[in-house]
Amino acid sequence: MNLSSKRVLLGVCGGIAAYKAVELLRQLSKLGAEVQVVLTRHAQEFVTPLTFQALSDQPLLTDMFRLEQEREITHVAAAQQAELFLVAPATANLIGKYANGIADDFLTTLLLATTAQVMLAPAMNTKMYLHPATQHNLATLRGWGTLIVEPQEGELACKEIGIGKLAAVETIVEAACAYFRRGLEFEGVTLLVTAGPTREPLDAVRFLSNASSGKMGYAVARAALARGAKVILISGPTALTPPPGCTFVGVETALEMYEAVLQHFPAADVVVKTAAVSDFRFVERHPYKMKKDEAPLSTHFLRNPDILLELGRRKGRAVLVGFAAETHDVVDYARGKLVEKNLDLIVANDISDGRIGMGSDTNRVTIISRSGALEHLPENSKEKVAGAILDRVLPLLPRRGA
Ligand SMILES: Cc1cc2nc3c(=O)[nH]c(=O)nc-3n(C[C@H](O)[C@H](O)[C@H](O)COP(=O)(O)O)c2cc1C
Repeated sequence: MNLSSKRVLLGVCGGIAAYKAVELLRQLSKLGAEVQVVLTRHAQEFVTPLTFQALSDQPLLTDMFRLEQEREITHVAAAQQAELFLVAPATANLIGKYANGIADDFLTTLLLATTAQVMLAPAMNTKMYLHPATQHNLATLRGWGTLIVEPQEGELACKEIGIGKLAAVETIVEAACAYFRRGLEFEGVTLLVTAGPTREPLDAVRFLSNASSGKMGYAVARAALARGAKVILISGPTALTPPPGCTFVGVETALEMYEAVLQHFPAADVVVKTAAVSDFRFVERHPYKMKKDEAPLSTHFLRNPDILLELGRRKGRAVLVGFAAETHDVVDYARGKLVEKNLDLIVANDISDGRIGMGSDTNRVTIISRSGALEHLPENSKEKVAGAILDRVLPLLPRRGA
């Protein structure tokens, strides 16, 4: 998910896992969040303030009574500007103080002053975690609506094995994203999108491919992330950067794409298949670069499996959206494909006008639905086309809780 312009206050306590908060800050910032860090005095025994300051654009908060920090941003303003107040790692001490309304340092004061959603990721020795005081405090906080990213079992810094290890950084990031997805139209929806061309190798350097740039699929991935979906992007080789927050699977050949799509399909509520998958592969693949003289002047192909056809067979409740890029009889061909492959929607584009469609930044498409309804959309940016496709997917999703 893209967290751009989301304001996160990241509290870090004095636990051995404090160093993991550096990676947490990095990952949240990479997703676009504006992260301001507040360190307890004991946290600074584990990681230097400089490390956090170097990775955050926001002033670091360490000491409530330092004039320059209070002048740059008052402690109350910091607490009120945040949308999510994440404390990771949260020590037994911090949990105890917060659950009892104690405000004796910068972090605990901000926790009482904030209007943001509070999320704690506890990390401590097993005995500390299971102590009735800690469990009672956590129960109190849950009762207030505080979100807890549960610790995991594992080997702890003290060499004991048990519960209390900080949740994986990825899990904490996902919990933050899940919070920001709440209430968005595609909350709870997993969208699988395929993008780009595939490459069918002939030898170590030569391959059969096509002009797909991947722009349409990446635009669908970005639009779905922005509207709250979890996105799995399966892409052939492109020059594009996967959008932050998606699960990215890079593939090369049609067979690799087939395997990746079938592996992730059971988790998907929606599949948008924009990839231009090669229909054929070479019978033989030479592991070395063929010399000019030994290269065959004719060759044989094998047919690649039809990914959409297979998805149509396994469809279940998933909403399937196909693309048909054609140079002639576009709508007729697309209608046939929709029926043959058991799709819900098909997006047809006429690529006979070389200016738009494959490789370009714009697209002019016709969206055809199962009922036969046909909508011609004007030429538009791929971003807008992606939005229009998602608009038509939304009513096809099973109603939540249904
Ligand atoms: C090496 C070391 C590691 C510690 N690790 C933890 C920990 O993982 N979790 C925890 O709750 N306390 C841990 N503590 C104890 C806390 O540092 C101590 O309770 C401190 O008062 C926490 O302060 P703070 O919550 O204001 O950061 C550790 C202490 C030391 C010396």
